[in-house]
Amino acid sequence: MVNQEDQFKKVIAHAKEYGYVFQSSEIYDGLSAVYDYGQNGVELKNNIRNYWWKAMVQMHDNIVGIDAAIFMHPTTWKASGHVDAFNDPLIDNKDSKKRYRADVLIEDYCAKIEAKIDKEVEKATKRFGDAFDKEQFVTTNQRVVEYQTKIDTTLSRMAKSLEKEDLADVKALIEELEIADPLTGSRNWTDVKQFNLMFGTKLGASAENAMDLYLRPETAQGIFVNFLNVQKTGRMKIPFGIAQTGKAFRNEIVARQFIFRMREFEQMEMQFFIKPGTQGEWYDYWKATRLKWHKSLGLGEANYRFHDHEKLAHYADAACDIEFKFPFGFKELEGIHSRTDFDLSQHEKYSGKKLQYFDPEENTSYVPYVLETSIGLDRMFLAVFSNSLVEEELDNNTTRTVLKLPAVLAPTKAAVLPLVKKDGLPEIAKKIVDDLKWDFNVSYDEKDAVGRRYRRQDAAGTPFCITVDHDTLEDNSVTIRYRDTMEQKRVKIEELRDIIKQEVDVKTWLMKM
Ligand code: GAP
Repeated sequence: MVNQEDQFKKVIAHAKEYGYVFQSSEIYDGLSAVYDYGQNGVELKNNIRNYWWKAMVQMHDNIVGIDAAIFMHPTTWKASGHVDAFNDPLIDNKDSKKRYRADVLIEDYCAKIEAKIDKEVEKATKRFGDAFDKEQFVTTNQRVVEYQTKIDTTLSRMAKSLEKEDLADVKALIEELEIADPLTGSRNWTDVKQFNLMFGTKLGASAENAMDLYLRPETAQGIFVNFLNVQKTGRMKIPFGIAQTGKAFRNEIVARQFIFRMREFEQMEMQFFIKPGTQGEWYDYWKATRLKWHKSLGLGEANYRFHDHEKLAHYADAACDIEFKFPFGFKELEGIHSRTDFDLSQHEKYSGKKLQYFDPEENTSYVPYVLETSIGLDRMFLAVFSNSLVEEELDNNTTRTVLKLPAVLAPTKAAVLPLVKKDGLPEIAKKIVDDLKWDFNVSYDEKDAVGRRYRRQDAAGTPFCITVDHDTLEDNSVTIRYRDTMEQKRVKIEELRDIIKQEVDVKTWLMKM
């Protein structure tokens, strides 16, 4: 059994080896929590973005997209509350001089107790076999109940203290739980302080006249300030949504989790403008719709769960995360937030411009409420990538490393391989590549024995290999090999396009929703 840490290390190493993700500026020893996407990574990322965009924009008559600038007028961030409230509670260890997020230290403490619960459940499953009733076990086993109570009381006290800005109590909690610096074991902590996560920059040629700007910490505000532009020019009727994908920047402190938590990352967000009072039903609708989107990719139903926020952000009246089982445990993948009329009202107040919707049926104007869905593209990338990487035992006692990416997202859909580098086989293989590349990303590979080429494509995540051999010269047929099952079929060259299309088409996958 590979432990979580080793599995995560494998994911990072594989991402580098196969051209998916590189450390940024690696030749200068890298830049912490900043990453570059390589030749395969950029394709996977584009495909995930496209899969989201099609589901959200193309498939909804009442959702349109925009692409707002990263730079925004600085008052935007005063209005949104980010200047005053976009903070993390930080604590320093006086001995190691390391800085941590106080809430993350406490959450990690609870995650360790949760791991103990999982162990108890695992032991009991083995002990009771088929007769095991997990629900009953976790609610009646004394040790598990004690563990769960400890988690619940700790998290709820932390949420209350953060809500009240009672940072002294957050520190007291860390001390009472005897939480130590994960690196050194020291318990010599400073007080907890708030730290703003926005990056500042300057706009203008001369230092005296330069204007202070922020790099946007979320894409959402670009949608809010364009609410009326889109509503009026698109003649949109409520309920309607505006979607956007793009970069966001946060000066993250806990930044040791590869592309899970980055300082420069990409978001895919949608703000859905609704009539006040209807937020409850739309909240349920978007929770269900977004979960279905995730499940359509087939990464395993049990790998998702909802987590209701205990501490609501300054703008929300309800909020939850869709959590995914990453190699380091269940963590937030996407947020669904009922943002009330907070943002539009704040922008009205700070800009002095009306941001209201005239409802022709009711003959009244109002500031719409907003339901937000917000997912990190890089986090989605990590979810897909880490879940797909498997080490498989084969019948002949060997193993193979295979990246079982959903075919719709795979960077290269098919690799075309001539069995040998002679007898006219490379020419036919290249002709197949030339024909298929109008529809799909395809590659050509003639180096090494065909078995090794299959393994290379398995590890790179290519769903199909197409082998051209001597029979091809006779009957125009080729072997198509399926990455996941390793099944091989003989098909005609002219059938290839339809076979591949059926498996990689966005429609086929989204229809599973
Ligand atoms: N507009 C709402 C908003 O930004 P959020 O929960 O702060 O909400 C939304 O962020 C999503 O963005 C998260 O669920 C996560 O997937 C992604 N995200 C946030 N911070 C990130 C970071 N530092 N690195 C990578 N992804 C991040």
